[in-house]
Amino acid sequence: MSAEENLNTLLKENRTFAPPEEFKAKANFNDPDVYKRAEADPEGYWSEQAQKLSWFKSYDKVLDWDPPHAKWFTGGKLNAAYNCVDRHREGPRKNKAAIIWEGEKGNNKIYTYDMLGREVDKTAHMLMELGIKRGDRVAIYLPMIPELPISMLACAKIGAIHTVVFAAYSAKALNDRMSDTDAKLLITADGSLRGGKIIPLKDNADKAVKDTNVEKMLVVGNIGKESNTSWNPDFDVDWGTLKDKMPANPVPNEEMDSEDILYILYTSGTTGKPKGIVHTTGGYLTSVNHSVRSVFDIKEEDVFWCTADIGWVTGHSYVVYGPLSQGATTLMYEGVPNYPERDQFWNVVEKYGVSIFYTAPTSIRMFMKWGPEHTEKHDLSSLRLIGSVGEPINPEAWMWYHKYIGKEKCPIVDTWWQTENGSILIAPLPGITTTKPGSATKPTPGINADILDKNGNSVAPGNGGSLVIKSPWPSMLRTVWGDDERFQNSYYGDYKGVYTSGDVAHKDEDGYFWVLGRDDDVVNVSGHRLGTMELESAIVSHQSVAEAAVIGRSHVVKGQALTAFVTLKEGIKGTEEMKDEVKQEVVKQIGKMARPEEVIFTAGLPKTSSAKIMRRLLRDIAEGRVVGDTSTLEDPAVVEDLKEKYQGKED
Ligand code: PRX
Repeated sequence: MSAEENLNTLLKENRTFAPPEEFKAKANFNDPDVYKRAEADPEGYWSEQAQKLSWFKSYDKVLDWDPPHAKWFTGGKLNAAYNCVDRHREGPRKNKAAIIWEGEKGNNKIYTYDMLGREVDKTAHMLMELGIKRGDRVAIYLPMIPELPISMLACAKIGAIHTVVFAAYSAKALNDRMSDTDAKLLITADGSLRGGKIIPLKDNADKAVKDTNVEKMLVVGNIGKESNTSWNPDFDVDWGTLKDKMPANPVPNEEMDSEDILYILYTSGTTGKPKGIVHTTGGYLTSVNHSVRSVFDIKEEDVFWCTADIGWVTGHSYVVYGPLSQGATTLMYEGVPNYPERDQFWNVVEKYGVSIFYTAPTSIRMFMKWGPEHTEKHDLSSLRLIGSVGEPINPEAWMWYHKYIGKEKCPIVDTWWQTENGSILIAPLPGITTTKPGSATKPTPGINADILDKNGNSVAPGNGGSLVIKSPWPSMLRTVWGDDERFQNSYYGDYKGVYTSGDVAHKDEDGYFWVLGRDDDVVNVSGHRLGTMELESAIVSHQSVAEAAVIGRSHVVKGQALTAFVTLKEGIKGTEEMKDEVKQEVVKQIGKMARPEEVIFTAGLPKTSSAKIMRRLLRDIAEGRVVGDTSTLEDPAVVEDLKEKYQGKED
C-alpha cells in the first residue's frame, strides 16, 4: 500500500476503545489532569518523575536548555546500576525475580535482584581486571543471554560507556562501531543459537577487532565444545575462567554526573554511516522509568515481556533499564517466535504468567498469517496489557491483536518513539486514553509533540506534515558521538530549537496522531531501521556492480521489503548467481536483517536531469502503480525497461 492509500484506510478508521473500567480503577495513571499539569509546568513534572530515582546527590537545576543542547538534572549524581539493581536489594524486592531468562531449548534461569547484583559485581570486577575505567567504551556483541544485560549493568556500575551491537550485525558493522567509539574491550560469545542453528559469533568478532584499539576480548562460553572457535590466549579471555577468579566483595557504584554518558547506540540515518546516538544517565533513566509506570502501568506483581532484542533501543529501554529501574520482573527470551513451534511466544506467556506483553507489528502480522489456532492452544489469561512498537500498526493487525491476544479485555498501547528519543513519546495511557486502531494517540505527559507544515505552522486537523517535538525531554539524545554538527543538522536543522523526527504524521479531529512512516530515505523492514544509502554503498562495494538504488516496497508482513535496482559493470551478466552475490554482499557489509528481498538488474536507473535517482518512481514501479510524472527524467526509456522487467512479479 502506498502512503496515500495507507492514509485513506487509516482515516476511515472510526472504532474507539475506552479503557475498561476495571483497568482504569487500578491504573497507576488514571487522572486525565496529569496532561494539563505536565503542560503547565513541564520542569516541575519531570522533576517529580526524577524523584522516583535514587540520587547520591540531588540536582541543582532541572533543565539547562541551550538549543539544541539540553542538560537535565544538572549537578545531580546517580548511578544507573544502583537504580536498576542494588537499591532493590536493600528492601523487600531483594529476593524478587529481576530477570526471567528463557532459553531457546526450553531451559531457563531466574535471577532475583540479589542474585543479579552479585553477577553484576563479579562482572564489574572482571571489567576492572581487564583495565576498564570510567568513561572507557566497551562494545558488547552478545545474543539474548543473561550476560548481555549483566555486562551493560556492570559497565554502568563502574561508569564505563557501553555500546551494544545487535548480534546479527556483520563483522564489518561491528568493526565500524568499535572504531567509531574507540572501544577498548569487546564482550562477545563463542556462538549463539537461532532457530536451532549455531551462529559462530566469535568468528565475526575475530574479524571485527582487526585494525581497532580493542585490547581484549571477553568471551562467554555459550555454546561450549560444539562452537569450534579459534582461541588467541594473548587476547581472548574466557568469561567463566576469569569470573571464577574474581573476589566476592561488592563493587561500589561510581557516582556519575546526571549528564555522564550511559551508552551509545548506533542507528541508520538518511546519509552516510550510522550515527552513534548518545544517551546520558539521569534524563534517560527518568524518562524510561516514567514510561514503564505510565504507559505500561507496571506494578509490583507484573511479569513484563518486551520481545525486542537488547541490541535495539527497545531492548535497552524496555527489557533492561525501564523495568529494572522500577524493580519489576522483566522476561528475556533467547529464541525466535516459530521455534520449536509457531506457538512458542504463547507457550512462554503461559509458562511465566506474563502480564504485560510488548512486541512489533511485523510479529503481529506474522501471527495473523499463522492463524489463531496457535494462540488458542495456551492460557493467555495472565495478560492484562499489550503493546506495539517499531512501525505503524495497521488497523487490521490491531484488531487481531485485540481479539486473539488481548481477548478483548487488554488495552493496547501503540507506542511511537525512536532510538534518538530514548523512551516512548506518543502513546496512550491505558487507564486514561481511549484508543483508536492504528493511532499511537497522543503525546505522553511532558512531551510537546506536534505536526508541522513546510512553513513551520501546526497543521489543522485532517492534515499531515512533519512530526516534531517542540520542547526538550529528559531522554533525548544529547549528540551524535564524535559529530555534533551532524546532530544539529540532522535533528535541529529544519526548525530552530525543534526536534525533527523524520516521520510524517497526520492529526485527526480529536487531536490524535497517525504516524504514516518516514519522509526520508530510511526504510523499516520488520521494525529494523535501515538507511538506503548504507544499503547502496554495501551493494556497490561488490566488484561487478556499477550503481544501485534501494527502495522499501510495501510488504504485508514485514511492513516494508527491500528491492535493489542494480546496474552491473560492462560485460557482467545479470544471472541468478549474481543476484545471490549482491544479496550476500549486503549481508557481509551490514548483516542478515538487511538482505534485500529482491534484486532487479537494469541497464540504467531513472534520474532527474540533475542526476538524482528518482526513488519515488522506483517505488511506484515496485509496488505496481501507474508511474506518475516522468517529465523530469533524463532518459524515460529506462522506466519502460524497468516496468517490463517488473511485470508479473508479486510478493
Ligand atoms: O518511523 C518510526 C518507526 O520507527 C522509527 C524509529 O526506529 P528506531 O529508531 O529503530 O526505533 C524503533 C523503536 C523505538 C520511527 O521514526 N516507529 C516506531 N514506533 C512506531 C513507528 N511508526 C509508527 N508507529 C509506531 N508506534
